Amino acid sequence: MTAAAASSSERPHPTILGVGAALPPHVITNADIVKRLDTSEDWIVRRTGIRERRFLTEPQETLAALAAPACEEALADAGHAAADVDHVIAATFTADRLTPGLAPALAARIGAERAGVVDLNAACAGWLYGLDQAAALIESGRARHVLVCAAEALSRVTDHEDRGTAVLFGDGAGAALVGPGGPGLGIGEFVFGYDDEAADTLYAERDERLLRMDGQAVYRHAVARMTEAARQALERNGIAIDAVDLFVAHQANARIITAVADALGVPHEKVSFNVERTANTSAASIPLALAAAQREGRLRPGATVGMVAFGAGFVWAAGVASFKNLPPTERST
Ligand code: ACO
Repeated sequence: MTAAAASSSERPHPTILGVGAALPPHVITNADIVKRLDTSEDWIVRRTGIRERRFLTEPQETLAALAAPACEEALADAGHAAADVDHVIAATFTADRLTPGLAPALAARIGAERAGVVDLNAACAGWLYGLDQAAALIESGRARHVLVCAAEALSRVTDHEDRGTAVLFGDGAGAALVGPGGPGLGIGEFVFGYDDEAADTLYAERDERLLRMDGQAVYRHAVARMTEAARQALERNGIAIDAVDLFVAHQANARIITAVADALGVPHEKVSFNVERTANTSAASIPLALAAAQREGRLRPGATVGMVAFGAGFVWAAGVASFKNLPPTERST
């Protein structure tokens, strides 16, 4: 099908067909960090909600090797093969090399031989940008199945001697296969925003390669921007807050997530809290949280998911999407 052939009445409604996640095996607990830095397990849990994070530690543990099983799990969850993938979008700012990017190595590992491959960097908001672009490719008829992966090795850009940031970050990968679904919401219209005046509030320079931030300023902006963007996204798609089955905010800090959910009026039982065991994995945090929610039985086919992310730039994004909203002919009874 060409773009011209896809009239508005027959345009596919993209949906998330399957999700997957992968974490490195090496666990770093708060107790491990307390052995090295002037901090305490109580401080870390109280101020961030984080109890442990995972790091890539061995040279052979590449980001591509971490991301591949997340993508394979998303494909298996969707019941599709790598040969079905038209595009691989990889959201990351910690790819194994400056160039080439992550997407070609990732596509080769999973056997997506005929896929287009592209990396995308929108910091912590990267996966939502990828989801929007996947939806647009499918709606326009330019692609049928798009694998949207986010993978980060933040341990490579963390100053492990700085107690203000060393406790916050972790490594991980998450992915979703996006494809045509049944009638309904699909992947709704997104809200995007940026504030370049805050570029020096959270950044990593090319030569130093370590994340630096003004934590309190990031915190304040994250709560305000994510609340505002999520509210706008719900309004734009005509979705009432009560209709949201699962709310997934970027997993940076449990206090930020709680503040945003409370401001929006989302009951805590509908809020995803995955940060406790992953820490902040930047772009990977939302797909990691979706996969965890499905495993825990909190994310079921047909669910309406509200998502919002915020990070360096500042750059933010918010959207609403249907999960596994299959066409009626493909639904199991
Ligand atoms: N252990 C013990 N004490 C610490 C630690 C630590 N690990 N880190 C900072 N402190 C101290 C500070 O030095 C300060 O001491 P002082 O009062 O003697 O000066 C005190 O704790 C309070 O520091 P604050 O920065 O005010 O602590 P706050 O409650 O704001 O928590 C935190 C800090 C957790 C970084 C918080 O600001 C935050 O989460 N900010 C958001 C940052 C973030 O998530 N960045 C990730 C990237 S962006 C994103 O993903 C949204």
